[in-house]
Amino acid sequence: MSTVQGRLRIAVQKSGRLAERSLDLVRDAGLRVVKGNNDLLYRIENYPIDLLRVRDDDIPTFVADGVCDLGIVGENVLEEVRNGGPNAEVVMPLGFGRCTLKIATPPGLDYAGPSSLQGLRIATSYPKILRRFLDENGVTADIVTMRGAVEVAPRLKLAAAICDLVSTGATLEANGLSARDTVLDSQAVLIKAPSAPEAGLQHLLDSIVERMAGVVSSQG
Ligand code: PRP
Ligand code: ZN
Ligand code: MG
Repeated sequence: MSTVQGRLRIAVQKSGRLAERSLDLVRDAGLRVVKGNNDLLYRIENYPIDLLRVRDDDIPTFVADGVCDLGIVGENVLEEVRNGGPNAEVVMPLGFGRCTLKIATPPGLDYAGPSSLQGLRIATSYPKILRRFLDENGVTADIVTMRGAVEVAPRLKLAAAICDLVSTGATLEANGLSARDTVLDSQAVLIKAPSAPEAGLQHLLDSIVERMAGVVSSQG
C-alpha cells in the first residue's frame, strides 16, 4: 500500500452488513466518492481524503495504529479486537447496523440460562466476547472459533450451542436454532485514532466528524 501524504484516511468495510450504509454516511456528509481502478482505495474528490476499503476485522487495528484517522465499524468487531494496547476512540454511535450477539441452541438442549452451557462446546466468531460473558456468569465451557457459518456447528456436532450475530433472525430460523441470552447489543460506531492526524488535517477531521454527527442526528 503506498502511503499518500497530506490526506486523511477513513477505513470502511469493503463488503458485508455495514458496507453500503457506511458509504451512504460518507456521501451524506458531503464527501464525493470516486471509485478508482484500485479496489482498496476510493478517493474523495472534493477533499484530501481517501476511503480505505478493508475487512471489518482489520478496521479497529488500522485506526488504533493511526494508519487510518477514522473508521466505521460494528461495536461487535470493536469489542472483539480490543486489546491491552492503545485503542481507537469511539466518537459516536451511528444508528445503523444494529444487531445482537446471542446464544442460540438447537432443539433438544434444555436452556434455563447461561448455567445450562456449563461443560459444553460453543461455536462462535467472537471468542473473547463470549469468554467474558461466560466468566461473568461463572460458566466453564469450551469455545470453538469459526470464521463463518457458525450456524451449521450444532448440526455437524462441532458444538452443542452457538454464539452468533442475529439481525433479522432468518439465519437462526433456517437452521432450526432458538435465540437465548443476549451477549452484546451492537450497532455501527465512528471511531478515531488515538493520535492526531498529519499536520494541517486536524481541522478537516473535526469538520468531517461534525458533518457526520449532523447526518446521524437528522436521521435519529
Ligand atoms: C451474521 C451472522 C449470521 C447472520 C445473521 O453474519 O453470522 O450469519 O449475520 O443475520 P440474520 O439474523 O439477519 O439472518 P454476517 O453477515 O455479519 O457475517 P459473516 O459472513 O461473517 O457471518
Ligand atoms: Zn468480518
Ligand atoms: Mg454469517
